[in-house]
Amino acid sequence: MEKRDFISIADYSREWIEEIFRLTDEIKKKTISGEGYCPLIGKTLAMVFQKPSARTRISFEVGMYQLGGHALYLSPGDIQMGKRESTADIARVLSRYNDGIMARLFAHKEIIELAENATIPVINGLTDLLHPCQVMTDLFTIYEHKKYVDNLKIVFIGDGNNVANSWINMSTKFPFELIVCCPVGYEPDSSIMEFAKKKGFNNFRIMHEPFEAAKKADVLYTDVWVSMGQEKDADEKKKAFDGFRIDSKLLSEAKDDCLVMHCLPAHREEEITDEVIDGPNSVVFDEAENRLHVQKAILVDLIK
Ligand code: CP
Ligand code: NVA
Repeated sequence: MEKRDFISIADYSREWIEEIFRLTDEIKKKTISGEGYCPLIGKTLAMVFQKPSARTRISFEVGMYQLGGHALYLSPGDIQMGKRESTADIARVLSRYNDGIMARLFAHKEIIELAENATIPVINGLTDLLHPCQVMTDLFTIYEHKKYVDNLKIVFIGDGNNVANSWINMSTKFPFELIVCCPVGYEPDSSIMEFAKKKGFNNFRIMHEPFEAAKKADVLYTDVWVSMGQEKDADEKKKAFDGFRIDSKLLSEAKDDCLVMHCLPAHREEEITDEVIDGPNSVVFDEAENRLHVQKAILVDLIK
């Protein structure tokens, strides 16, 4: 069977995503009850990191161990893909030792090159363009809390960056309403928005007014204003995003049972207040936990 990668949600169907959620449910129950589930005995995952990480590194490493396999953490200084040797050569070499690769990279084109030259599955652990494992987990978490996702009003308040881009890709698979509310000039990637217009349910729009956008929301979601690699733009971005913080006043516009979500790490009191992230609507730590369960299902699907 031809190897499959997980680079973008856009490459998969609603049916595949729902099958991953079904498997996630099964795996999560087994993990919590302590029943072993080890379909990946003897398998290894090479994890290539060009950027820092807590959740992605830990959840993939713990996940591989729990599935009976092993994960190797390759830090930014280790293999120096594209610097010490070419991305294509690293793909070929990693493929001779391992059963899968998970990579967190800057340039999205580099993960495409990695996948094109690897003979084993490549999983996107975040690039400047996309964060598909995060948004798979987010939607699973919404399912857990709401039991359905169609017709929900999901409002992303913040930067039109990798997480927002993956949310737009997800909106082409499920007919929830998606609003990305960002300052002018910080809209999501134009080719992803074009793709959503052509392939979606006409269920996605951009807004620039947080209080309008948050009205009757079922989910309020945010991400950091300054993503990894954008540190030099921090002052400019913090000014531009003034007014886009999720605080209790903004939350009061949403439905009473609105879920508050954040991919983490959070810059508390910047894009979200302590009161909201620690408040009764917040599911951010369920979301963080679910990275483990959802990614285990993806690993089993691609590598087993
Ligand atoms: N949400 C997320 O990907 O977290 P890390 O950057 O810590 O991996
Ligand atoms: N947009 C953030 C997500 C972190 C998980 C970043 O790229 O830094």
